[in-house]
Order: sequence, then C-alpha cells, then structure tokens
Amino acid sequence: MDTRAPVPLLPMMALHQKEQMRGHLVAVQEIVGALAVEDWAAVEAAAARVGTSQQMEQMCTHMGAAADGFTEQALDFHRRADAITAAARAHDAAAVLRATSDTLRACTACHETWRQQVVTPAAYDALTSL
Ligand code: HEC
Repeated sequence: MDTRAPVPLLPMMALHQKEQMRGHLVAVQEIVGALAVEDWAAVEAAAARVGTSQQMEQMCTHMGAAADGFTEQALDFHRRADAITAAARAHDAAAVLRATSDTLRACTACHETWRQQVVTPAAYDALTSL
C-alpha cells in the first residue's frame, strides 16, 4: 500500500535515522522559536545542527548505501539548511524564513519519496555489495 521507495537499513541504522529525524524536527522548532525573539545566535546554533558537516555527509552516505539517490537528496537538504545559518549571520529575518521554508520543502519531498525498510544483515550485505 505504501508506494514510496524503500531505504534498506539494518535495525540499528533505522533506529539511528529516526533519532536523527526527531533531532531535525527539534532544530526546526528551535530555529522558528529563536527567530521570533531575534536571538540570532540561537538561530545559527540550531541551523548548524541540520547544516552540512563532514559528519553529516558520512552519515548520509552510510544511510543511502543501498538506496540510489537517497544520499544526494539528503545532502541537498543539508545544503538548503546552510542558507539558514547564512541568513542568521546577516540578521535577516525574512531570509531566515525563506531558507527555512526551502529546507522544509526538502524534508517533505524526501518523506514523500522514501520509507524505511528494515532488513537482515545478510540482505543488507547482498544489497550493498552490488
Ligand atoms: C533525505 C531524506 C529525508 C530528509 C531530507 C528528511 N527526512 Fe525525515 N525521514 C526520512 C525517512 C526515510 C523517514 C522514515 C519514514 C518512514 O519509514 O515512513 C523519516 C522520518 C522522519 C520522522 C519520524 C521519526 C520517527 O521517530 O518515526 C520525523 C519527525 C522526520 N523524519 C522529520 C524530518 C524533518 C523535520 C526534516 C527536515 C528538517 C526531515 N525529516 C528531513 C527521510 C528524510
């Protein structure tokens, strides 16, 4: 019934991905809350948690190892979030909102496209050794 494309993940990876996701939602909550009181440092700190970093790139590459195109979509999402950081540094509220909206579009687009598929280690090894 669910027509979204599967992202094959080991149980631990699936758990970790969902933890990351809940953290992303908290970051968006903090961005909006901090923007409302023009606490630019807090906007920047929250945006940095969803922005591009070497650690994020590694994790997204790992998560998308068995799902063609997933990692690219994930990295595009983090790049969009980088624009929130830049706008916060410039103390530009309208630009923070635009970049947040643009970032949220990446969240919803990915959710429309992909779903988790928890697989066994043997199945995962077979998928990633192709
Ligand atoms: C590159 C893809 C991708 C991006 C970008 C993305 N997500 Fe997700 N997210 C997923 C997948 C896959 C799931 C699991 C969905 C499923 O299996 O039904 C998920 C699940 C979630 C969940 C449910 C977590 C749980 O505990 O069940 C939340 C909340 C969430 N995402 C928030 C966000 C937010 C907020 C953003 C953007 C700031 C975001 N996600 C961006 C792929 C993505």
